[in-house]
Amino acid sequence: MKLTVLGATGSIGCSTADVMLQHPDKFSAYALVGHRNSEKMLQLAKLLKPQWVVMTDAAAAERLKGQLPADVRLETGMDAATELAAAAETDMVMAAMVGSAGLPATLAAVSAGKRVGLANKECLVTAGRIFMDAARLSGAEVVPVDSEHAAVHQCLHGHDKGSVSRVILTASGGPFRDRDPATLQRVTPEEAIAHPNWDMGAKISVDSATMMNKALELIEARWLFDLPADKLSAIIHPESIIHAMVEYQDGSVLAQLAMPDMRMPIAYAMQAEPRLSTGIPWLDLAKTGVLHFQQIDELRFPAMRLVNDVLQGEDSLSIALNAANEVANAAFRDRRIAFTDIVTTVEKVLARVENIPVALLDDVWLHDEHARRLANEVIS
Ligand SMILES: NC(=O)c1ccc[n+]([C@@H]2O[C@H](COP(=O)([O-])OP(=O)(O)OC[C@H]3O[C@@H](n4cnc5c(N)ncnc54)[C@H](OP(=O)(O)O)[C@@H]3O)[C@@H](O)[C@H]2O)c1
Repeated sequence: MKLTVLGATGSIGCSTADVMLQHPDKFSAYALVGHRNSEKMLQLAKLLKPQWVVMTDAAAAERLKGQLPADVRLETGMDAATELAAAAETDMVMAAMVGSAGLPATLAAVSAGKRVGLANKECLVTAGRIFMDAARLSGAEVVPVDSEHAAVHQCLHGHDKGSVSRVILTASGGPFRDRDPATLQRVTPEEAIAHPNWDMGAKISVDSATMMNKALELIEARWLFDLPADKLSAIIHPESIIHAMVEYQDGSVLAQLAMPDMRMPIAYAMQAEPRLSTGIPWLDLAKTGVLHFQQIDELRFPAMRLVNDVLQGEDSLSIALNAANEVANAAFRDRRIAFTDIVTTVEKVLARVENIPVALLDDVWLHDEHARRLANEVIS
């Protein structure tokens, strides 16, 4: 199977490369797409020998000129990434760019009927309706890579979806789960990015600390599994061993367990059956001893209060939540606002936008731009 990896230089991209290198008989790279990290791309290109390398940033592509192994062709720009994601030679796309920047290329892959491993949750949060309609039309198989959604996918497999009473996503609670909320105002980006269980990119790590990640995941689950808001829930589970549970009408609850390592859901998205070996540590429940669970406190994590309204509302609200969060998350990482200002900014933007359905991609971008402008106004 030939893969195009969007966001190859990131955390999910590198874990995907790891799984590919463990199974060279099954997978090869058609195209690797990165943004600015030319050094990482050079390493990956030497290991995976793709036919194409794309850096969406022109300066990063310039740095790679004359450096890549023979026969690896170099391109730049999002249009090139989008074209390769939909190319006839691509069998599967791993969608692992961060943020709504990943939408055009991922949507092109879906519209071309590719198998798509979806890590980029922002695609579904901003354009879930358009994205899933395109998949239905083209017959594309969209397989979740987010560990929680991969878990739900496994717990639903072979079962009647009409019998589902509730999907329960687990949340680690991030680095500030037990911290005095009065001190959150002063936490640094370094503290927010230091996730206790998962090694992830900077943006999603901060999203985990604010619990905005779980908010985005609930919206993602709504589109992926076509479930109404009242069947979607989340619970804190600090050990990140159970990734999600599905409760059925008879009271039975199915859970999926694994050590917290993204190579497992990535491998599952690449080939569900027969299962691939991944090299992740075996789960030793006797050693783990106890698994803990607690209700999510909406005072500590106000993002969860916001998402309840967004899930009940129309598409324009999820677009605004995502766009405002991207702006505020980046502003916090740039030390321009405090940690607690992230969710406050999103809340202020949500209060100022329309609540309407959005069925066209051009309109998604208009709502996205408007929310980004409002978020920047709030911040400045
Ligand atoms: N990491 C996890 O464990 C995890 C788990 C579940 C879901 N996800 C989701 O997977 C996605 C990727 O997360 P990650 O942790 O792998 O992020 P990451 O480590 O920050 O990597 C992001 C990737 O996107 C590229 N990128 C950044 N800005 C871009 C832009 N404007 N245009 C095109 N490409 C751009 C980066 O390129 P350069 O580095 O070359 O600049 C990099 O390849 C996110 O949507 C995240 O929510 C991640």
